[in-house]
Amino acid sequence: MTIKILAMLVVIGSLFPGFANTHAAELDTPRQDVRLPPDLLNLLREEMREIAAGIQGIALFLATADWKSIQETSAKIRASYIMEKKLTAAQAKELEQALPGQFKQLDSEFHQRAEKLGMAAAAHDPELAAFQFSRLVESCALCHTAYAKSRFPEFVSPVQHEHHH
Ligand code: HEC
Repeated sequence: MTIKILAMLVVIGSLFPGFANTHAAELDTPRQDVRLPPDLLNLLREEMREIAAGIQGIALFLATADWKSIQETSAKIRASYIMEKKLTAAQAKELEQALPGQFKQLDSEFHQRAEKLGMAAAAHDPELAAFQFSRLVESCALCHTAYAKSRFPEFVSPVQHEHHH
């Protein structure tokens, strides 16, 4: 790990005190499914598929120093925030009430990481961009571990995991 990345981690840690503890916070929550009415669940799935397509593109852009495309894609991912979609007032209210606080926190961290990836791409820094990309993918896995139990059953429950040690 280079000094630069270490320095970056220190900066991240000080900007977001809760940031480094996401794993720890996650560890005492059993896996579950996000509970949403069918229309909102469909919106969420649709958004997920869009995000997934974007993420796959980024691997290639990183390998080819296509900074512009990384910036565009991460901006798109940032803008995809489900809470900011054009929902009816009733849907927005429903969503606000249906999503647990921790889901919203994971979602907002996810969007912060997308923004950081965009910044690394803007700085034309391959090492930092690759690092931020890995952090972004990690946050997909974190939320799926916590809130997509049925859809992605292969993640090990953090609570179970603890018992094995
Ligand atoms: C804040 C939470 C959260 C984050 C962050 C998140 N997801 Fe998801 N994702 C979910 C949930 C919840 C589901 C399962 C919905 C369901 O029950 O079908 C899901 C489902 C999916 C699906 C399946 C969609 C379908 O059609 O069934 C894909 C693909 C996916 N996510 C990709 C990603 C990728 C790639 C990332 C990161 C770049 C990501 N997700 C980040 C919560 C999240």
